[in-house]
Amino acid sequence: MNAQIDHALEEIRRFRPSPEFAAQAVADESLYESARADRLGFWADQARTLLQWEKPFTRTLDWSNPPFAKWFDDGELNVAVNCLDRHVEAGLGDRVAFYWEGEPGDSRIITYAQLTDEVKRAANALADLGVREGDRVAIYLPMIPEAVVSMLAVARLGAIHSVVFGGFSADSLASRIDDAEASVVITADGGYRKGRVFPLKPVVDEALGKAEGGTVRKVLVVKRGENEVDWNADRDLWWHETVATASNEHEAQAFGAEHPLFILYTSGTTGKPKGILHTSGGYLTQAAFTHRNVFDLHPERDVYWCTADVGWITGHSYVVYGPLANGATQVIYEGTPDTPHPGRWWEIVEKYGVTILYTAPTAIRSFMKLGRQIPHEFNLRTLRLLGSVGEPINPEAWIWYRHVIGGGSIPVVDTWWQTETGAIMISALPGITDLKPGAAQVPVPGIEVAILDDDGTPVHGEGGGLLVITEPWPSMLRGIWGDPERFKETYWEKFGDKYFAGDGARRDEDGDFWLLGRVDDVMNVSGHRLSTAEIESSLVAHPWTAEAAVVGAADETTGQAVVAFVILKQSQAEAASTLEDVSEVLRKHVASQIGAIARPRQVFIVNELPKTRSGKIMRRLLRDLAEGREVGDTTTLADTSIMQVISAQVR
Ligand code: WTA
Repeated sequence: MNAQIDHALEEIRRFRPSPEFAAQAVADESLYESARADRLGFWADQARTLLQWEKPFTRTLDWSNPPFAKWFDDGELNVAVNCLDRHVEAGLGDRVAFYWEGEPGDSRIITYAQLTDEVKRAANALADLGVREGDRVAIYLPMIPEAVVSMLAVARLGAIHSVVFGGFSADSLASRIDDAEASVVITADGGYRKGRVFPLKPVVDEALGKAEGGTVRKVLVVKRGENEVDWNADRDLWWHETVATASNEHEAQAFGAEHPLFILYTSGTTGKPKGILHTSGGYLTQAAFTHRNVFDLHPERDVYWCTADVGWITGHSYVVYGPLANGATQVIYEGTPDTPHPGRWWEIVEKYGVTILYTAPTAIRSFMKLGRQIPHEFNLRTLRLLGSVGEPINPEAWIWYRHVIGGGSIPVVDTWWQTETGAIMISALPGITDLKPGAAQVPVPGIEVAILDDDGTPVHGEGGGLLVITEPWPSMLRGIWGDPERFKETYWEKFGDKYFAGDGARRDEDGDFWLLGRVDDVMNVSGHRLSTAEIESSLVAHPWTAEAAVVGAADETTGQAVVAFVILKQSQAEAASTLEDVSEVLRKHVASQIGAIARPRQVFIVNELPKTRSGKIMRRLLRDLAEGREVGDTTTLADTSIMQVISAQVR
């Protein structure tokens, strides 16, 4: 990360929007002006213009009980109707909603009319299974159209979805099901990844064996992988027998703007993932507003592709809710970028004439490594805007993205936001902002941020400090599911009524923001958040482990990589034949407990960990080791010679 930040500090390139792009841009300066003049009025206008309300709201923001915000709260709407029915009613039923591409090469084209039909059927089927307003439904699916259909069907009923990424383990799924007390799980037999079928239904079966709550009554299963699955006739139902045969007539009810829409679990600084809660009207307003203006969406002609899985917030806000509320035509792809060949993504861009591409720096860096000859085999000239999200994008990757993928002259927008913020908070607006490679740049209109030091004093100039959001925003999280105290402690205790994001940032002399990475024990691996504490507790749960410390070390491709330092129990250290095997066993153990994304890049077996006199592990020193740097200041260690011992063991 440090090398990256050094580059960022030296970066001085600027790119003016081209006059042609600016002339057709959706966004214009007046957005900033009206938001500055009357911030709440601005958001109220956006909510009224971008969404269809069954009952108009009269109150914009209620912040009388911070940090619990209410936006547009006397208004009523149905989120699914906003994403579907109203477009069909406006005569856009034949517009393509999704070009879906399966990994093995099968594909489906789904129009807004068809998607609306399918969501109505699924809503009827779920209602028949007893799903009611406020009930929680867990969704554990590959990137197939049924994932989007399921989310919207749940939303249509006023129930709450909790999408769990298909790469998470049975344990992770079980704890999420328990925490949300889900009554129904929607899954598939399996999906395609890296040329093979990976099983999902068997993981659900295992998870339900582990879930302690026993809340799940029904499991709805999409047939996709055609892999063998066990069947529990009292509990399991096939999608094609249940949804396909349900009626496509469904009268949607309107719900209050503050009605919960979804829970999405994300890693925090402690071992237990947090269930981030989002509600309806404010969330949809900001998702739609940012999707339209940051991506310069012209829904009648653009083909937009966000490569995120719906298991992450990016998939929620920029595959499902923002784009569908805006009536966009999208591509979704089930599989991995390099299957069956390394040009697969570029082949898809060419096949569907993608105009807007939104992806993560880690993907861009892996393509850079493979070389420009791969994308150059395909016609990418339809692309007119590129987006980045998930971690700071290093200027080299930004420039490569713009030149090799974008042909050298199209805008690249780097978007900073979080699961908690629900929608983009800091980004250039294409056609308006002069672009700076490596900087997320400016708060979007209607968003107020600041940089503070640890005591809450505003920081000016180069040094940087902590990023805070100083005013409530429409798509802000409304809490942590079932844990209001943790919500207050995590985000609001530090600076009173200002939201503490957990990221470091600095602001340059032009007022542009540069993100500097997490300031807490959250790691960012390939744009995915992982907590050091969660992986440490998984490691110590293994019978061989006495103690473990985990750090995020800089990695050329994934941004950060998980590196673990483990002390074995005396009895096990002797029994273990070769230390390399032990490391491998522990790596696999973490992958099976949490999911493959959490598998440590390296597990070092050591005899000691560096601790302060009060017993706190000094991860900073371990990070120095993991990144191959000179070890920093060790004077606060209880035993200052310990790092030499550990270094020798790591080498
Ligand atoms: C990081 C993903 C720098 C940041 C939408 C944040 C970024 C965390 C950027 C949230 C960016 C995301 N520049 N850092 N453009 N985008 N991050 O919840 O550390 O998965 O706090 O949301 O990713 O990750 P999350």
